[in-house]
Amino acid sequence: MSETAKAATPPQEAVTLTDSASGKTFDLPVISGTVGPHVIDVRKLYDQSGMFTFDPSYTSTASCKSRITYIDGDKGILMHRGYTIEDLAEKSSFMEVCYALLEGELPNKEQLEEFEYHITHHTMVHEQLHFFYRGFRRDAHPMAVMCGVVGGLAAFYHDSLDIYDPKQREISAHRLIAKLPTLAAMTYKYSIGQPFMYPRNDLSFAENFLYMCFAVPAEEYKVNPVLARAMDKIFILHADHEQNASTSTVRMAGSSQANPFACIAAGIACLWGPAHGGANQAVLEMLEEIGHKDNIPEFLRKVKEKQDNTRLMGFGHRVYKNHDPRAQVLKKECDAVLRELGITDPHLELAMELERIALSDPYFIERKLFPNVDFYSGIILKAMGFPVEMFTVLFAVARTVGWISQWKEMIEEPTLKIGRPRQLYTGAAQRPYVALKDRK
Ligand code: ACO
Repeated sequence: MSETAKAATPPQEAVTLTDSASGKTFDLPVISGTVGPHVIDVRKLYDQSGMFTFDPSYTSTASCKSRITYIDGDKGILMHRGYTIEDLAEKSSFMEVCYALLEGELPNKEQLEEFEYHITHHTMVHEQLHFFYRGFRRDAHPMAVMCGVVGGLAAFYHDSLDIYDPKQREISAHRLIAKLPTLAAMTYKYSIGQPFMYPRNDLSFAENFLYMCFAVPAEEYKVNPVLARAMDKIFILHADHEQNASTSTVRMAGSSQANPFACIAAGIACLWGPAHGGANQAVLEMLEEIGHKDNIPEFLRKVKEKQDNTRLMGFGHRVYKNHDPRAQVLKKECDAVLRELGITDPHLELAMELERIALSDPYFIERKLFPNVDFYSGIILKAMGFPVEMFTVLFAVARTVGWISQWKEMIEEPTLKIGRPRQLYTGAAQRPYVALKDRK
């Protein structure tokens, strides 16, 4: 294990901060988790010193305690409930991972069957929801539609909105995991003008999703098992990622005791951005823009000179500074899907060449920039037949379980408190009000 991932024995019980101006000292307790960096508890700092800490993008701030997911970014380790993502992707199913994220342990056979039964039997959405879609333009971005319809779920499922009732929390978690694929597929169908396909209970989670997206009522549709397995793996790889931007958004929204449907809609809004879940769409658009491998050097020149804020999309990660373990699993899956479909995608060749050149370029080496999960997911999803606008929606389908597990964990904390960061104010100091007639 790396330095940062060593089993946690605190180096000391407290650290002492000295205010060099006044000479006053403040003892701040050090808290340890199971593995990973210790944290300095600054909760009392303001009371003691009258000072806040300043960490605008949370690069050094642990915002909560969590038992769900562990990442060692230096080593490229991602674990859910103590299981590595490589093991989960290879040996388990998305339903098993969902259960483990929500409940803390991998399910036994009976628990898995019961869980799958509940998820399967919550996949239909209220018929009235179908009419929501008609209010959207057909060319709306699917994420815009998802923000609306997922938030709208709270208007339909009044019986699971009491966040302090464990049974209602469980039902709303099951509803969200089960209904997101249905809503996502409906969003896709609406955008292409095809009829919505109702879910089928004889199919697995991934099969059912592919069916709802690609089947039409006029003919029989057989789900390709290779694609279903790849879809399941994509869902596993995106299921949770500890306190990233969208998860923190869900927790922040939930900290005000908002209902879970509203919180997940907030997470979807955050995920939409190209620096987060929107990156897989941005990767394909970038490959499109580059067009040919001869144009790679010129594109990389623009990136390195930061011309027009150009970034190599699908590269870099706030936490992973060695490799993204999800990217490695997906790269293999990408080959399997393209082989199965007999596709030779020029984008894949371009992506490989871009990766090869970037990984040997000092700019990327020095900044520890490596391909992230989005670098490959877009290529697989495109091969499966999804349009680029749907990529982030699929990410949201997978991440819903992570969001709701993190939300549930937070609600179950005995000391739920509304999230309320402070600020370093840099605006005008108090000044006299100037009447309109006297203003220049
Ligand atoms: N291309 C080019 N340069 C980059 C990239 C990139 N993709 N990512 C970071 N850098 C550079 C920055 O310009 C900066 O350079 P400097 O030191 O000369 O100023 C340095 O690397 C550090 O970058 P930061 O922006 O401080 O890194 P941060 O941790 O804030 O960013 C992020 C992480 C947002 C993911 C960034 O790497 C990025 O924009 N990547 C492209 C978008 C992307 O693929 N996002 C998906 C993330 S994974 C996910 O959400 C599933």
